[in-house]
Amino acid sequence: MAAYHAKLSAFGSSVPKKIVNNFDLEKIVDTSDEWIRTRTGMFERHHATADEAASDFAHEAAVRAIESSQVRYKDIDMIIVATVTGDYPFPSTSCVIQRKLGLKGVPAFDVSAGCAGFIYAVHTAKSFVESGAARNVLVLGVEMLTKITNWNDRGTCVLFGDGAGATIVSRANPGDISRIIDSLVEADGSQGDLLYQAAGGSRMPASHESVSKNLHTIYMEGNKIFKNAIKSMQASSEALLKRNKMETVDVDWIVPHQANLRIIEGLASRMKVPMNKVIVNIEKYGNTSSATIPIAMDEAVRSKKIRRGDIVLLTSFGAGLTWGSVLARY
Ligand code: ACO
Repeated sequence: MAAYHAKLSAFGSSVPKKIVNNFDLEKIVDTSDEWIRTRTGMFERHHATADEAASDFAHEAAVRAIESSQVRYKDIDMIIVATVTGDYPFPSTSCVIQRKLGLKGVPAFDVSAGCAGFIYAVHTAKSFVESGAARNVLVLGVEMLTKITNWNDRGTCVLFGDGAGATIVSRANPGDISRIIDSLVEADGSQGDLLYQAAGGSRMPASHESVSKNLHTIYMEGNKIFKNAIKSMQASSEALLKRNKMETVDVDWIVPHQANLRIIEGLASRMKVPMNKVIVNIEKYGNTSSATIPIAMDEAVRSKKIRRGDIVLLTSFGAGLTWGSVLARY
């Protein structure tokens, strides 16, 4: 039994100003607006410039989330950042953000779970809040995947965008309608080689050869990931609903990871959820990995599509392989 309930207090997001659309990509690789639109649902994405890094956008997203909440800066007692493209291999991007927010002393750490990182981070924050070990955990998903993109690989370079999203996982007060009902995370390391960055770690440190062979960039077997993504997000979403004695009709909004519109439509169709209950913004941002869900939540909350009291199901899938879902009354 949890000592307390946790809730999603508020959201914030930030993306780079520079916009790259499908026609711009036609000038870089052998692709077409028509292929990208029909195969992925994407049209535009935001790219960070050479002098912009993850913490710049994460900091802005954090400030927006805090200012949209009742939580004061001094009440934040933990920072968790989901990222695989932080400012540095170390220190953690959460420590960089802690410094920018002036929250000296507050524990801060990063979570690495690819596109499922935000779900893993909310799951972790929820546990700290439910046990009473923390009261307000700032949770961020931030990714600068265009910094590790192979611009010769048309199968991946058209997909990714940069951005950051934030939420605050807070202790729910007695009488609050908002509450994280449940969360579930899973992994299958045996399929890790379907999506990875070969060089830059201790297995293959940076060398002239690793750079010349483009091994510091994303390697992905897209169509194998595609099938896994639909299956895992469906299984995790349905398991979470079932163990809470709920059905898809009880859910007001599904907020899925934005990796491919066909994945999202496949998931909705298998779960028998009409697309008008699914939040989609992939045409504007592409795949921002761990940032897709908090950016989508932030937009949907600010436009009043998602309102206090709505039941939301967040679900994601990514490198690892990792996947998971969060079921909440917002
Ligand atoms: N423009 C034109 N043609 C292309 C492009 C492109 N940008 N990319 C691939 N093609 C071609 C291929 O070369 C291939 O041509 P061929 O038949 O002559 O060999 C054809 O299109 C089909 O290629 P597939 O890879 O089978 O295309 P698919 O329909 O699977 O779409 C995609 C590819 C978009 C990558 C899809 O597989 C996908 O979205 N996968 C999931 C991605 C994902 O969810 N990743 C996880 C999260 S990412 C993270 O964690 C960092």
